[in-house]
Amino acid sequence: MTHEIAVIPGDGIGQEVTPAAVDVLEQLPVDFEFVYGEAGDAVLEDRGEALPEETREIAADADATLFGAAGETAADVILPLRSVVNSFANVRPARAYPGLDAVQPDTDLVFIRENTEGVYAGIESEITDGVTTCTRVITEEASRDIAEFGFEYATENGFEDVTIAHKANVMRTTDGLFLDVAQQVGDERGADYDTALMDALAMHLIQRPEDYGVVICPNLAGDMLSDLAAGLVGGLGLLPSANIGPDNALFEPVHGSAPDIAGEGVANPAAMILSAAMLLDHLGYGEEGDRVREAVEGVLDEGPRTPDLGGDASTEDVTDAIIDRL
Ligand code: NAI
Ligand code: MG
Repeated sequence: MTHEIAVIPGDGIGQEVTPAAVDVLEQLPVDFEFVYGEAGDAVLEDRGEALPEETREIAADADATLFGAAGETAADVILPLRSVVNSFANVRPARAYPGLDAVQPDTDLVFIRENTEGVYAGIESEITDGVTTCTRVITEEASRDIAEFGFEYATENGFEDVTIAHKANVMRTTDGLFLDVAQQVGDERGADYDTALMDALAMHLIQRPEDYGVVICPNLAGDMLSDLAAGLVGGLGLLPSANIGPDNALFEPVHGSAPDIAGEGVANPAAMILSAAMLLDHLGYGEEGDRVREAVEGVLDEGPRTPDLGGDASTEDVTDAIIDRL
């Protein structure tokens, strides 16, 4: 069976790490057909739009999408792409790897972030000069979907700790609903879980990440807490993510286009290659996904490493070393 994969490298280091992930996928005994799409700042400049209709169609028609990163047009590219594939759940694992100098070596967290609403619903307005608003959308349906996904993910992946992050003491109506529904889902499933105010949770994640496993979050909280966790384990070059919908999905590193290092050939490809491993899991190739993760972990442990991890290797050196291990 051939799997059609949309590949959208985007801007900056997206152009460097996406080919690395495709190279890795090509080593595996899985039949992929890669279909390339353009998006991002460079396309906006060339063609007047950051996400051309044909790129949307490529992603909609594919079995899954691999996305690199966009630059300043990120909100015009990745937010619509996530909705093109109907992804309601953003899965962001943050693990400390052996051999790396993590701030907290016992970190093994997975953020399950609501991916469609909250303050990222895009409803902003300027009421009058100097007065702006942003409407925060929280629905029962989306809250239920993300909570069910989160509890199921914890069960399937052997996580004992589930935490529902919220700020219902202040946003009583919106996060009140999110919290109520998520707790209902936990109770219906007979699951053990905790709830945590997201600001205090940010501190506790830094102090004792080992107390947490799966963290179910509203949209913005999931975005911020997962970057915080990236800091605990050695940086954005290590964090993959999956955007999962009922019948399509998109996989991307958590990082952006990294203009400070773009073009130098030194971007860490691990986040993108680990995203490709999540794509393998999603398509039912869990064994191949594990092989890719083991190869990445081996290289993180023994080198070569890119400069963000204290090494002096290039993206290509690291990718070749991962492929050698495969
Ligand atoms: P960023 O993730 O691009 O970079 C943050 C820092 O992490 C930089 O110092 C960068 O060099 C480093 N870094 C990130 N990925 C790395 C990798 N693979 N290897 C080594 N170092 C890495 O975030 P920043 O600087 O906030 O944003 C840069 C641009 O990216 C902006 O235009 C922003 O809009 C866009 N962006 C796009 C996203 C997306 O397409 N999903 C997500 C986040 C930002
Ligand atoms: Mg982010």
